[in-house]
Amino acid sequence: MVIQDWKSFFMPYEQAVDELKVKLRSIRKEYRKKNEYSPIEFVTGRVKEISSLLEKANKFGIPIDRLQYEIEDIAGIRIMCQFVDDIDRVVEILRARKDMQILYEKDYVRSVKESGYRSYHMIIKYPVNMAEGQKEILAEFQIRTLAMNFWATIEHSLNYKYKKQLPDNVREKLKKAADAAFELDEQMLDIKDEIKDAQKLFEIKSDIISSIMHNILTLTSLGKFVEASRYESSLNKLIEDGEIHELNKLLVSVKKEVNKYRD
Ligand code: GTP
Ligand code: MG
Repeated sequence: MVIQDWKSFFMPYEQAVDELKVKLRSIRKEYRKKNEYSPIEFVTGRVKEISSLLEKANKFGIPIDRLQYEIEDIAGIRIMCQFVDDIDRVVEILRARKDMQILYEKDYVRSVKESGYRSYHMIIKYPVNMAEGQKEILAEFQIRTLAMNFWATIEHSLNYKYKKQLPDNVREKLKKAADAAFELDEQMLDIKDEIKDAQKLFEIKSDIISSIMHNILTLTSLGKFVEASRYESSLNKLIEDGEIHELNKLLVSVKKEVNKYRD
């Protein structure tokens, strides 16, 4: 193929990578705007370099006119998640989309590769609207945690350095590092639950506290300054480490106080 033909060959892939990056990043934005946790931390994308495309074609004996059908990762999108269970949420989100068709999935998160590689892969068919009409291309999603990404990036560059002939001791160390990355993901998952619990507790507490303050203000507006300041100092004692039941007790009490002076 001449240079001009390669340029047109890559164009729909470039378009697809650009579009998919925008679409996936906007999923993250949507969650953030709603003040909700986003299962997507960040998204990257790339179009395969012509040299590695030809290398791969050569390796598998794929003729140039079959590249678009046989090579599935000319357009590649990586979706990074903070926690392992976010991966399943992202997969669900992608499965529900109407703007792409999932051809198949490979779960290297549950079925770790021999190398130690972990990631969730999805191969999709994606329609791009080009100046001269619609074209369907194949693209590969790799969905992984930050730890999985860290490991894969290091392993990839070591493979590059040793031209895929990793010395045994390096391979051994990479295996250990893969185990460590797995362990890290597991520990982070534990922390995730704790963070979520703590956030929920915080919300409940701040609701009760604001109700108490509202009632204290009502007492003040009713001219009951002595009572108001008594409740204020009780609240101050609880605000740092008070348990929910203690705060609730105070709320019930201040409400009763307010009701005494209301007709
Ligand atoms: P390809 O020939 O690239 O298709 O690899 P494959 O068929 O062995 O694996 P698969 O199609 O499931 O995964 C494709 C992509 O996943 C690769 O291009 C890499 O980006 C990534 N990948 C797969 N295995 C490994 C691995 O052991 N280490 C790293 N770093 N990346 C991997
Ligand atoms: Mg493959």
